[in-house]
Amino acid sequence: MDKFVIKGPCVLKGQVLISGSKNAALPILASTILFDKPVVIKNLPRVRDINTMLNLLRSLGSKIEFFDNRKKVRISKTKKPKHFASYSLLKTMRAGILVLGPLVAKYHKSITSFPGGCVLNGNSGRPIDLHLKALQKLGMKYEIKKGYIYAKSKGKLRGKNIKFPSISVGASQHLIISSVISDGTTTLQGVATEPEVVDLINFLNSAGANIKWVGKRACQIVGVNSLNETSYTIMGDRIENGTFCVAATLTKGNLLIKGFDPKIIKTELELLKKTGAKIKTIKDEIHIKGPQKIKKINNLVTKEYGGFPTDLAPQFMVLLCKANGRSSITENIFKSRFMHAMELQRLGAKISINNSKATIEGNTNFIGAEVMSSDLRASAALILAGISAKGTTVVSRVYHCDRGYEKIENKLKKIGAKIKRLN
Ligand code: EPU
Repeated sequence: MDKFVIKGPCVLKGQVLISGSKNAALPILASTILFDKPVVIKNLPRVRDINTMLNLLRSLGSKIEFFDNRKKVRISKTKKPKHFASYSLLKTMRAGILVLGPLVAKYHKSITSFPGGCVLNGNSGRPIDLHLKALQKLGMKYEIKKGYIYAKSKGKLRGKNIKFPSISVGASQHLIISSVISDGTTTLQGVATEPEVVDLINFLNSAGANIKWVGKRACQIVGVNSLNETSYTIMGDRIENGTFCVAATLTKGNLLIKGFDPKIIKTELELLKKTGAKIKTIKDEIHIKGPQKIKKINNLVTKEYGGFPTDLAPQFMVLLCKANGRSSITENIFKSRFMHAMELQRLGAKISINNSKATIEGNTNFIGAEVMSSDLRASAALILAGISAKGTTVVSRVYHCDRGYEKIENKLKKIGAKIKRLN
């Protein structure tokens, strides 16, 4: 298992180019099951979850051709599509479940394993009840045998009005994809409005789908018979972007971050300004300078889009460890997303957890130590802490990081971090 060895503290200066969004690319790739004609997708991030999704599509009968150093793919159908999505491919990645709906929509049958992914919800796991209940409303029938969902429908799925009881990014994406070639009109209420959902809709509409927003959290999908050839560029990764913005703020750094529309992360940039960062934005560039003294934030609360994203809370926790006083973070999306707090304590952080609230004493001088990543964003937090720590930090289990950050060590080295990968 690879490890990162980081010698700190480092000041990060220079330019960073943000990669394509993993969480936008995954549902877009899953939706290619609906197509008979070839699809070209550009700006794919070269991360493990994307490879896993491409392998999954290949196992289902898609032909994948790579261009432009694997950042661009052309996906087309072979003559023999399959309907079996195996445990060996889904066990590492939550988004694998997104092939279930399109397989049933297109071929009216599927055998799909329950998915894996980061453990963020304690004993509750990562449920898919919202996905399954909503797909049933479209006419999918299923039974569960030996960890697999055996699903089928009598012909096409049929459009319905569906109100999600709570907001889920994945369930919203899954239902949008599954309704595109269904019979009639589907109206979804309680839809997630994350930019990755918007990117999926833009992609599907670019191929002739008929999806529109009919309210703040409501989407109408009028079923079409088939989708056209299309070529689409995936949006930049807002979490990678946010991670580098935190890195600049944390290290008194000075970064020019390119390849991303700053308007999409207004909330995060406002929060960083509150901590003292100086930020200028132009079109698809962010220029960010870290302050001499980081200011605390009283109560940072994770929320659905528009609010502060759960996927950046671990990185902000590191920043708040170095702030000028006590801060807190309340996690509202996942139940157990503080595993990194224990590891940060090994580097000297003073954090106490009470249910979904973490209280972070500031003024920490991190001292390098050996730490272990527990999930994707936790690994980013530990790397950031290592960069600002005095001495050597060794971060193990970086396979978590490789799932979602494209060559993070190369990007960090270029801007002055002393980080190397040990195999
Ligand atoms: N939930 C249910 N039942 C369901 C689905 C979700 O109870 O059927 C609960 C979840 O357990 C959670 C909440 O609803 O408590 C929200 O989960 P959501 O479905 O919105 O999350 P997701 O679709 O599984 C995506 C991202 C996550 C990101 C969340 C929240 C992808 C592949 N994953 O997950 O990203 O944290 O939305 O924004 O898009 C990451 O990239 O590190 C990551 C974990």
